[in-house]
Amino acid sequence: MRLILLGPPGSGKGTQAQRLVQRYGIVQLSTGEMLRAAVAAQTPVGIKAQHIMASGGLVPDEIVVGIISDRLDQPDAARGFILDGFPRTVPQAEALDELLKKKHIKLDAVVELRVNESALLQRVETRVAEMRARGGEVRIDDTPEVLTKRLASYRALTEPLIHYYSERRKLLTVDGMMAIEHVTREINRILAAIGAVEAKAAKKADEAKRTAKTGKSGAKTAARTASKPAAKGTGASGKAAKASRKAGKPASRRAKKSSRKASAGSRVRSAGKARKSAKKVTKKRAKA
Ligand code: AP5
Ligand code: MG
Repeated sequence: MRLILLGPPGSGKGTQAQRLVQRYGIVQLSTGEMLRAAVAAQTPVGIKAQHIMASGGLVPDEIVVGIISDRLDQPDAARGFILDGFPRTVPQAEALDELLKKKHIKLDAVVELRVNESALLQRVETRVAEMRARGGEVRIDDTPEVLTKRLASYRALTEPLIHYYSERRKLLTVDGMMAIEHVTREINRILAAIGAVEAKAAKKADEAKRTAKTGKSGAKTAARTASKPAAKGTGASGKAAKASRKAGKPASRRAKKSSRKASAGSRVRSAGKARKSAKKVTKKRAKA
């Protein structure tokens, strides 16, 4: 699975990326984390980036594109990845398109976490408090002043990507105002609905979680099986998503419809059914 998580500072990209990593066994590629590591190590990139990051600006495109290009070449990215905080500008998105094309890699979806701006400061303040409580290092850019600037950068330079990926029928929007658990569930559901993950893997992961919660025996085996990557199903189910895409319905709306249907039954319904309902909707639309 190859995903991009898009959203303003504090929207939950890092939180959800880690949950997806645990569930699907793919890697999180966070340019923010990589840059912070470079700053801490005082590498040439880190030295260049540190003042820009501290002031809430964006590090030059060529630097982050270079970092991501190198990172995508590493073996652990071959099974799939979640890009967290990249791309952040249209030129970065174009560079990523080129990189993926060269590597013959297809992007499954761009998940936009939509959160009211008024909630972001509170979230960042909570993160600061949690960090302090753990004795961890507080991020230099987690202040109300810098957050305002990070938000301004997001609006001016990153928000255009919503249109960019919507036009390419890759955008799936999720309500990031829900509780963390609910956001995760919604992401998993829409990924299954578009065929980006094998429903079987998603179902097994859910079962394993439930079994672990109730403390029943066999939880470990189930969890081991469920944590296996779901790459196998991407090809066939991707075709279904492609077919309905051809009929001209944006991915976000398709997923919303089929996920509404999926939610009527069990928590995670088979992607086969979700795909069928997506197809039905598409056929109806084509007829209309
Ligand atoms: P980066 O590290 O990417 O930061 P950011 O985009 O500003 O986002 P955050 O990491 O602050 O938030 P998040 O969305 O990950 O939320 P989180 O899950 O932590 O970038 C930092 C800087 O590096 C940039 O400003 C820039 O200078 C530079 N940079 C990075 N990438 C770049 C690029 N591609 N190009 C140029 N420059 C780049 O959640 C936040 C808090 O909220 C947590 O406490 C969490 O527990 C809580 N929370 C999460 N979800 C929920 C929920 N649903 N309900 C309640 N609380 C929640
Ligand atoms: Mg983050």
